[in-house]
Amino acid sequence: MDNSKFYITTPIYYVNDQPHIGHAYTTILADVLACYHRLIGEPTFFLTGTDEHGQKVAQAATKNGITSQEQADSTVVRFQELWKKLEISNDDFIRTTEPRHKEIVQKILQDLFDKDEIYKAEYDGWYCVTCERFYTEKDLDDGKCPESGCGREVDRIRESNYFFRMSKYQEWLIDYINDNPKFIQPDYRRNETLGFLRNELTDLCISRPKSRLDWGIDLPFDDDFVTYVWFDALVNYISAIGYLDDEEKFKKWWPASYHLIGKDILTTHTVYWPTMLKAMGLEMPETIFAHGWWLVGRDKMSKSSGNVVNPMEFIDQYGVDPFRYFLMAEMTLGQDASFTEDAFIRRYNAELANDLGNMLSRLMKMLDTHCDSKIPEPGPIGEDEENLKQVALDAATKMVDCVENMHIDQGLAALAGVVREVNRYFEKKQPWTLGKEGKYEELGTVLYFAAEVLRIISGMLYPVMPEKMSELRMALGLKVGDPDYKELSKWGITVAGTKVSLLKTLFPRINVKKDSGNDKKQQNQQKKKQQDTGGLSASLKDRRAAEGVAQIEYTDFTKVQLKTATILEAEKVEGADKLLRLQVEIGGEKRQLVAGIALNYKAEELPGKVIVVVANLKPAKIRGVESNGMILAAGSGDLLRLVTIDGELPSGTVVK
Ligand code: MSP
Repeated sequence: MDNSKFYITTPIYYVNDQPHIGHAYTTILADVLACYHRLIGEPTFFLTGTDEHGQKVAQAATKNGITSQEQADSTVVRFQELWKKLEISNDDFIRTTEPRHKEIVQKILQDLFDKDEIYKAEYDGWYCVTCERFYTEKDLDDGKCPESGCGREVDRIRESNYFFRMSKYQEWLIDYINDNPKFIQPDYRRNETLGFLRNELTDLCISRPKSRLDWGIDLPFDDDFVTYVWFDALVNYISAIGYLDDEEKFKKWWPASYHLIGKDILTTHTVYWPTMLKAMGLEMPETIFAHGWWLVGRDKMSKSSGNVVNPMEFIDQYGVDPFRYFLMAEMTLGQDASFTEDAFIRRYNAELANDLGNMLSRLMKMLDTHCDSKIPEPGPIGEDEENLKQVALDAATKMVDCVENMHIDQGLAALAGVVREVNRYFEKKQPWTLGKEGKYEELGTVLYFAAEVLRIISGMLYPVMPEKMSELRMALGLKVGDPDYKELSKWGITVAGTKVSLLKTLFPRINVKKDSGNDKKQQNQQKKKQQDTGGLSASLKDRRAAEGVAQIEYTDFTKVQLKTATILEAEKVEGADKLLRLQVEIGGEKRQLVAGIALNYKAEELPGKVIVVVANLKPAKIRGVESNGMILAAGSGDLLRLVTIDGELPSGTVVK
């Protein structure tokens, strides 16, 4: 990565509906990354915005009985208000209906048209209204839209349109992706794009006749047409930083360090956008990073299921910083994660209210009682102190490393570990007894060390919880504003004698209601679904009862997607004798599975084995570890053997 600057973007969000946690997540993630990079002293530019043209917005406007511009104007404020409330520190917010963006889109189109990168042709094919994409007959999946998660009916369309000569860049793009492993991340998403590029790339239809859709940017060379929404939207990443307008600014920030996206918009970002940039003669972004989806419980979030989580309601109830913390700590970047109110409350109470809250209140109380609310001089130090100091400094280094490598959840886990370490240190040293017994030198050491660790922890957590950590740092008598990273990687910065002020409780415990409304609703829906389908997620007991008696239809069998998978890594799940955590590859996609085979297989003998997995099982958490599918094994009692493949087959092959 170019360490002289950091330019990060989120997708620009459609203004057809109000923001949900998926949108909030990407924006918070970008904010956290931007904040860490500012903290380590890199010039940083963080861009977000809204995608205001296209069919989705036009349709929402029609439904709401307003113009498309009114639809955009009324919805954009919901995003802007939410970002303000979520303490998002974006440097710019671009709307695709702004003249500064439209002018650049038109300049690019004219330029590409003049260079014969865009041409007009007759189109005859299939169109998905929802995805706003054209498909050839062979692209279709059983006659329906092939986009993952869509599968809707498509319309036959015959019309003149303008096309971008995307196909001519196919070989170049494949080579570029292979030569630049950081370009598409995580690795399994890179493989997904390479898989897509194994098929012949067609030219991209970049216009829509106004007779069908007029909510878009006019083509500068033919005003019977507007620009295809993606050809307009993707350009925001360069129009906002001065492309063809402010060359100095543009040179300063381009290429982007990160385009953060959700996994559903991978093709547009890793195929359309790079080829567009290539045609414009511009450098490629350094990394396009696709994160997974937030599921609600185990279900996809959708309006029709009525399970869309509104971040505004959630933060009104539980606060902004805990929400940010939960999202960052709960999702392993790249994989899907499950959002439930129960999981939020559990993590909040354990890590924030109990561990961090306890440590803070113990420290403040003792400083108040024994030290006149001032941080004392440390007395002599021993092994315990050396250990605590090392654990804190290591966690700070790990956090920065995890930010660089997109493992934020692991960095936060390391910081949470340090907090627990301080609480253990308190238990061991019993400072409350030292105070009572008048052993002030020893007490001074314990309290100074706890305060010093808290200084480091609060600084490292500041990008994730800016408001709460600012309060905490003020209470510790530290300087207001962004912490200085150099100081966070050093020991001994806290000045003895600094006055501290007792805080209100930073993270009051959430009393668990018997049935937290949402989760109860989800559980009921889940139960009902299981009863309706009679199916896969029925309890083990039900399955056992059915063994040997129930006959199923072939169509029932086809609901189970069995695939070959290659085991990449295996390790024991802490605290569970029988469980192994496996990283497997299924046809280019990397997944994590939890399997109860630890009594029969050692972790080190598994990598390289080709096994069979149920690939379409809904994700579940087993002992708190995300499991995305299930392995097949034969056995009885404690004896289990994996089902493997006779002969050689690539991973991801369907088992039927
Ligand atoms: N307008 C396009 C993006 C253009 S970028 C040049 C778009 N907008 S969107 O509003 O539909 O989606 C924006 C982002 O939200 C996408 O990255 C998408 O993956 C993400 N999410 C939508 N639902 C999500 C979850 N349930 N979980 C996490 N993110 C998800 O696509």
